[in-house]
Amino acid sequence: MLLSERLRTIANFVPKNSIVGDIGTDHGYLPVYLIENKISKKVIATDISSNSLKKIIQHVESKGLKNFIDIRLGDGLDVLKPFEIDTVVIAGMGGLLIKDILDNSKEIADTITHFILQPNIASDKLREYLYENNFTIIDEKLVKESDKFYEIIHAKKEKALLNRRIYLEIGEKLIENKDPLLEDFVNFKINLYSDIMKKIKNKNTSRTKERYYELDKKILDLKEVLREIEGN
Ligand SMILES: C[S@@+](CC[C@H](N)C(=O)[O-])C[C@H]1O[C@@H](n2cnc3c(N)ncnc32)[C@H](O)[C@@H]1O
Repeated sequence: MLLSERLRTIANFVPKNSIVGDIGTDHGYLPVYLIENKISKKVIATDISSNSLKKIIQHVESKGLKNFIDIRLGDGLDVLKPFEIDTVVIAGMGGLLIKDILDNSKEIADTITHFILQPNIASDKLREYLYENNFTIIDEKLVKESDKFYEIIHAKKEKALLNRRIYLEIGEKLIENKDPLLEDFVNFKINLYSDIMKKIKNKNTSRTKERYYELDKKILDLKEVLREIEGN
């Protein structure tokens, strides 16, 4: 089966012979791919929406993979027992929702080794949660699909220090790995923030002034990252 580049990159982060929980699986493309390509031994595919689960039930049955993909209806990690999986994938949701899913079931999360997370928005808030809750980001990768950037984060439970504030916005590993899309991504953010600054420049509320200075500071930090990339 052909997966989108985003889902394929997520699949590449999944360790061989793993037992995976795909939380918010929706269509179920990832679990089928992981089993068909012998990356995972078993996948527990979950979703909070019964409509989404109808799609995956059909997909799994048509592929004859019922013995390898366990389908469960429910909220976040609540549908799992401790030590049932070694790897969790939580992809295609907002960073704040991913953070809530991890935070609402700490006793389950504490028994998982690999966390593969792909926030659609608010990746800085998710990274902040990871740094504050004894996770280490061991790898990261950018994917660009239909002109949209996706950040894929591989984390493990282990204390890490946040050395620079900008690493919440731009994952440290993306810089360390010289991610091929990084320069493009940083420029995209600089342009986005510059546009917002132009729009709010003449609005004189305390909130917009605060936002203006916050974005100005972020652009300075992003330009520093650009200089680092270009200097390498
Ligand atoms: C945009 S889809 C992403 C599907 C797939 N993970 C991907 O990356 O292509 C988000 C899915 O997450 C599910 N979802 C949202 N909140 C959830 C929660 N708290 N627990 C489980 N699933 C959830 C939604 O029902 C939806 O099917």
